[in-house]
Amino acid sequence: MSDTVIRTAILGYGRNGSTMHAGCVEKSPEFTMSAVCDVDSAARDKAKSRFDCSVYEDYREMLADEELDLVVIVTRSDQHCEMVCDCLDAGVNVLVTKPWATNREEAARLVAKSRTSKGHLLPWLPVRWASDYLRLRELLAEEAIGKVFLIRRCCTSFGMRDDWQTETKFGGGYVLNWGPHIVDPAMLLGGAPVATVYGQTRKAINPGDAEDLFMAMITLEDGTLLHTEYSVCVSHLPNWFVQGTRGTIVAHGSKLTIHKHVPHLPEDPTQYAAMRGDEDEVIEEALEGHVYGDVDAVYGDVAAALAGERPFPVSPDDAYGLSVTLDAIKQSQEGDCIVRPDYTPVA
Ligand SMILES: NC(=O)c1ccc[n+]([C@@H]2O[C@H](COP(=O)([O-])OP(=O)(O)OC[C@H]3O[C@@H](n4cnc5c(N)ncnc54)[C@H](O)[C@@H]3O)[C@@H](O)[C@H]2O)c1
Repeated sequence: MSDTVIRTAILGYGRNGSTMHAGCVEKSPEFTMSAVCDVDSAARDKAKSRFDCSVYEDYREMLADEELDLVVIVTRSDQHCEMVCDCLDAGVNVLVTKPWATNREEAARLVAKSRTSKGHLLPWLPVRWASDYLRLRELLAEEAIGKVFLIRRCCTSFGMRDDWQTETKFGGGYVLNWGPHIVDPAMLLGGAPVATVYGQTRKAINPGDAEDLFMAMITLEDGTLLHTEYSVCVSHLPNWFVQGTRGTIVAHGSKLTIHKHVPHLPEDPTQYAAMRGDEDEVIEEALEGHVYGDVDAVYGDVAAALAGERPFPVSPDDAYGLSVTLDAIKQSQEGDCIVRPDYTPVA
């Protein structure tokens, strides 16, 4: 790797690659855009005029011709696994967007490949850098609402799309598309290992054969419930609704509200009204930063990991665990059953 600057290529200069990732590379002095690869000539032209970098139609040619420190993979979800393996085989570090794999088998292949590769494999799970998740993590650690027994995590929008994300053959569907933003942080806040998963998926308004909404009830081994949901056709639901023995936390966009209660039993058990908790203490907070992750901070951690300063906060084993859970949601829907996921680590 170069001493001063991380020679970076973006593989897949589409909607997300050309905006979020290209923007991070452009802004950060630790990175330089050495090359861009896309099968679309218009995308290559845009990248060439923006970065004056090499452009390629075939990523294997790019890997052969360029001296790269990092390839950022932002192609269709069904393409990630093969491309990651080829980049790691070429000895390059890889940052791969979510979902890093379309199923458990691909995820296992990626973990195994990362164990034998010189390059680092860095899975992109930006919500681990999100302002609401990080604040909730602090509040739960200090037991601000007592013992938490239910975490509801929900993201919604109201809008149709008609691209590859609506087709299962391309790795589309909202379990893979939004599960990483929804299920992963809920599991992290829950903290305990997953015991069971019950999932339902539906296709409400989008074309194609892939689901555009899902709900999953995940039960942790300590009994904590995680209720996770994405829908493409509902508005205004809170993003987080965390219930504890001494209160509730609601987060919606950049607003977080803590409702604290002190429950108590009445002296006289016939006095039901007296069983109500004390008056709420209500604390409102404005969250700073991005609720889908501070992507510049993620790139800062990529740079630190590649410089050997500290490990990247997301490991291939973490991403594997998430893939196992997302697979379990789909299996539950397919079999209309409760699934006990097998998290046996990849050898
Ligand atoms: N916040 C996030 O983390 C976030 C947001 C949006 C998308 N994504 C992820 O980014 C990925 C891409 O999504 P998108 O919406 O940008 O899709 P997109 O279709 O707009 O972009 C994909 C690009 O890859 C190119 N491509 C296809 N095959 C190729 C090949 N063989 N070689 C080189 N280039 C090729 C396409 O021409 C296109 O420009 C998805 O996996 C998606 O889940 C992540």
